Amino acid sequence: MKATFLLLAAIGAQACQRDRASRSHSQPFVKRQTSNATFPPVLDANEQILIDSFDNTSISTWSYYYTHGDHIAGRNKTIAQWTADKWTEYGFTSRLDEYYVFLNYPVSNSLVLTYPNGSTYKPTLREAVLAEDDTTSYPNSIPSFHGYSFTGNASAEYVYVGRGQQVDFARLVALGVKLEGKIALAKYGGPFRGLKVKNAQDYGMIGAVIFTDPGDDGNVTEVKGFAAYPNGPARNPSTIQRGSVEFLSVYPGDPTTPGYASKPDSPRADHGKVTPKIPSLPISWAEAQPLLQALNGHGPSNASVNRTGWTGAISGVTYSAGPSSNATLFLSNVMNDTYSTIWDAIGVINGTSQDEVVIVGNHRDAWIIGGAADPNSGSAVLIELAKAFSKLAETGWKPVRTIVLASWDAEEYGLVGSTEWVEEHIPWLKNAAVSYLNIDVAVSGPIPAISATPDLHAISTALLKKIVYPYRNSTTSTLYDVWEHEDGKVGVLGSGSDYTAFLHRGIASIDVGAEGGPNDAVYPYHSNYDSYHWMATYGDKGFLTHKAIGQYFTLLLYHFVNDATVPLEPAGYVPELHKYLTALNATVSASNYTIDLSPLTKAISTFDSFVHDFEALRSQALKSNDTALLTVQNHKARDFSRGFASQGGLPTREFFQHTIFAPGRDTGYAPVTFPGVTESITFDKNATLAQEWVGKTAKAILVAASILKT
Ligand SMILES: *[C@@H]1O[C@H](CO)[C@@H](O)[C@H](O)[C@H]1NC(C)=O
Ligand SMILES: *[C@@H]1O[C@H](CO)[C@@H](O)[C@H](O)[C@H]1NC(C)=O
Ligand SMILES: *[C@@H]1O[C@H](CO)[C@@H](O)[C@H](O)[C@H]1NC(C)=O
Ligand SMILES: *[C@@H]1O[C@H](CO)[C@@H](O)[C@H](O)[C@H]1NC(C)=O
Ligand SMILES: *[C@@H]1O[C@H](CO)[C@@H](O)[C@H](O)[C@H]1NC(C)=O
Ligand SMILES: *[C@@H]1O[C@H](CO)[C@@H](O)[C@H](O)[C@H]1NC(C)=O
Ligand SMILES: *[C@@H]1O[C@H](CO)[C@@H](O)[C@H](O)[C@H]1NC(C)=O
Ligand SMILES: *[C@@H]1O[C@H](CO)[C@@H](O)[C@H](O)[C@H]1NC(C)=O
Ligand SMILES: *[C@@H]1O[C@H](CO)[C@@H](O)[C@H](O)[C@H]1NC(C)=O
Ligand SMILES: *[C@@H]1O[C@H](CO)[C@@H](O)[C@H](O)[C@H]1NC(C)=O
Ligand SMILES: *[C@@H]1O[C@H](CO)[C@@H](O)[C@H](O)[C@H]1NC(C)=O
Ligand SMILES: *[C@@H]1O[C@H](CO)[C@@H](O)[C@H](O)[C@H]1NC(C)=O
Ligand SMILES: [Zn+2]
Repeated sequence: MKATFLLLAAIGAQACQRDRASRSHSQPFVKRQTSNATFPPVLDANEQILIDSFDNTSISTWSYYYTHGDHIAGRNKTIAQWTADKWTEYGFTSRLDEYYVFLNYPVSNSLVLTYPNGSTYKPTLREAVLAEDDTTSYPNSIPSFHGYSFTGNASAEYVYVGRGQQVDFARLVALGVKLEGKIALAKYGGPFRGLKVKNAQDYGMIGAVIFTDPGDDGNVTEVKGFAAYPNGPARNPSTIQRGSVEFLSVYPGDPTTPGYASKPDSPRADHGKVTPKIPSLPISWAEAQPLLQALNGHGPSNASVNRTGWTGAISGVTYSAGPSSNATLFLSNVMNDTYSTIWDAIGVINGTSQDEVVIVGNHRDAWIIGGAADPNSGSAVLIELAKAFSKLAETGWKPVRTIVLASWDAEEYGLVGSTEWVEEHIPWLKNAAVSYLNIDVAVSGPIPAISATPDLHAISTALLKKIVYPYRNSTTSTLYDVWEHEDGKVGVLGSGSDYTAFLHRGIASIDVGAEGGPNDAVYPYHSNYDSYHWMATYGDKGFLTHKAIGQYFTLLLYHFVNDATVPLEPAGYVPELHKYLTALNATVSASNYTIDLSPLTKAISTFDSFVHDFEALRSQALKSNDTALLTVQNHKARDFSRGFASQGGLPTREFFQHTIFAPGRDTGYAPVTFPGVTESITFDKNATLAQEWVGKTAKAILVAASILKT
């Protein structure tokens, strides 16, 4: 899934919702003199083989295959087997791992707006068929709907609720707007869509309609003079964002098997804890316009509501909250609730050290026939990556560590394929997993972006310097130069893609991709226009960004499975922990609670000192060529972050175990740091609980430290 709108909040997780307007991409790119890197980058012989193996034409061929058939979760075994077969062709031992999971599929839906004189407006809930874009006219095109949405009808007045965060609803209640029994009209952006529906439900509302707003499209809009897709890079007005409405921040995965793998005979829990009990529909901005206009001048104005992200850019709309007794909606959503087999393709090359495993994953399922960016830009890259390793293997090279390639199914419904797989393999993963490397949307625009656990910061930024950037001054630029110019920060992992289950079991993780800035073509996320034609025309003409990101991701994997020293740097946590502590201290001050943070200060200091001991031993092992000692240090680097996930689950959500970062309870995508402490303050408003979590978090840091020490 992974919504790639540009970053709004200060902490930069790639998978979070982003506000395109925050990028400075309009400035001409000039290479900064900060990286000291030689140009062109110096590569060793193996790196050169891997890099040279990458071919944009074959990536385009893989992309074309993936994006010309129905591959929604659980409905296409052929494409899973094709993936496994390609990996087999390139020397991996491949198989399909099956799970039997709860899913639902659209049957029918409708929406009717009724005006006081009895006249009606009926949105089509469909995207325009475009002659230029072949897959938009496929007879088996997938309609617009919300995955895991509730089957039901709702008929009522409606209220515009902004981006649908809890604070938006609270603000409306404070302004005297009656929400109970009404339908919510919410804007995309900000929190994960499932949480918008959850919040509406929690406030007693009986249905939800969620629309895309061109105000989130940065500079590339029709109003600002750009033609709409397919004639130009602006958003086609009929674009609809599909997507899951699972309550992702409570737990991901099959909602009927929390904490264990879904097999045909598995016991099933009630899914109602993490799926909505009110119906919802997604809608385009063009078809939302009459609904919003009917609220103009009714209820609190946008200025009196005064909430972040409230006012969009749809013409003729004042973004008044409503309701209006003169406008009612009838909403109907019919889904087929069912259990389906899903297929995770898995490809393995055993390393010489089989107790050290690196997992590389991308999801394969898409909401539409296309999926050229989400997720199949990543799928195409993984085929090309496998091909590159087969070229390297021809020289006799073998990995030290085991490589596991994964093509996950049902990510879009709620990270289902990866979560079930982790739940099935957890004892082995806890022992052997060195890292999980994720590539979901490899390309939706030209700017590289990475989010990772802090132990991956050093290797992931260093390798950006080894790849030539294919555009804008490519004779002198590397991915690093562009990344550094645009943002230059490794994001904090929240959620929204398949690293989640790994991360929350204490496995070092990274999420890699490239995305657009405010002056790039608007990425039609989760719509019919996320197609091969869009990609080849606007997203990545010539597939050169695919190639560059693929080369980068391949070198990352190569160093993880090749280098004598596991390229994880526990020291990366030290400055990050200090940063998070400063932020927490500010949160505590703003809350007026008295909370003693000194256990955290002390734990970080102990961690820091044990990291130094670890580094000293590791250099000694390298200097004396003591392979047994080096193996011990490698295992410490592999294992220490399990300590961060050692204190049981976070308050109200036991799935999420990482005490240092987690998706916010009311954001779903965007991360919260020291989540146990922070959310005890901001959500539970319970100083006792916050203090308890200071203790647990400090203890987790000490467990991590002790693994480095022993
Ligand atoms: C949008 O375009 C305007 C006018 O061309 C420019 O001044 C501004 O910097 C652009 N915004 C961004 C975020 O690049
Ligand atoms: C390309 O990079 C060089 C060296 O950094 C710089 O002098 C030049 O202005 C750049 N050209 C463009 C078109 O950005
Ligand atoms: C670049 O090299 C100079 C001299 O070796 C050094 O002082 C500086 O810290 C380096 N800068 C970076 C960003 O590595
Ligand atoms: C499965 O997906 C592939 C690739 O997109 C496609 O060629 C094939 O037609 C799909 N199968 C079905 C039954 O839709
Ligand atoms: C809107 O809210 C911000 C902070 O949330 C506040 O600083 C500002 O004064 C408010 N504006 C109005 C007009 O109430
Ligand atoms: C409803 O519409 C009628 C006539 O169109 C108008 O007189 C009345 O004020 C409207 N009511 C509300 C609450 O807007
Ligand atoms: C619902 O899905 C089942 C398969 O799980 C299928 O047999 C049935 O025909 C579907 N029903 C509708 C109404 O689509
Ligand atoms: C890889 O190792 C596993 C576990 O040790 C073993 O079962 C499997 O047969 C090996 N695969 C190959 C291709 O050697
Ligand atoms: C928190 O901030 C206060 C001042 O605002 C400072 O005195 C204290 O040392 C800080 N505590 C930590 C743990 O950073
Ligand atoms: C903290 O205390 C100040 C001053 O008493 C007050 O204005 C503010 O609203 C309080 N903040 C919270 C979150 O309770
Ligand atoms: C290090 O030890 C290994 C065997 O343990 C040996 O093959 C290698 O040549 C040694 N390297 C150096 C630099 O001594
Ligand atoms: C606050 O948290 C403590 C510790 O978990 C718990 O015992 C207490 O019941 C909580 N208080 C409230 C008001 O929920
Ligand atoms: Zn995705």
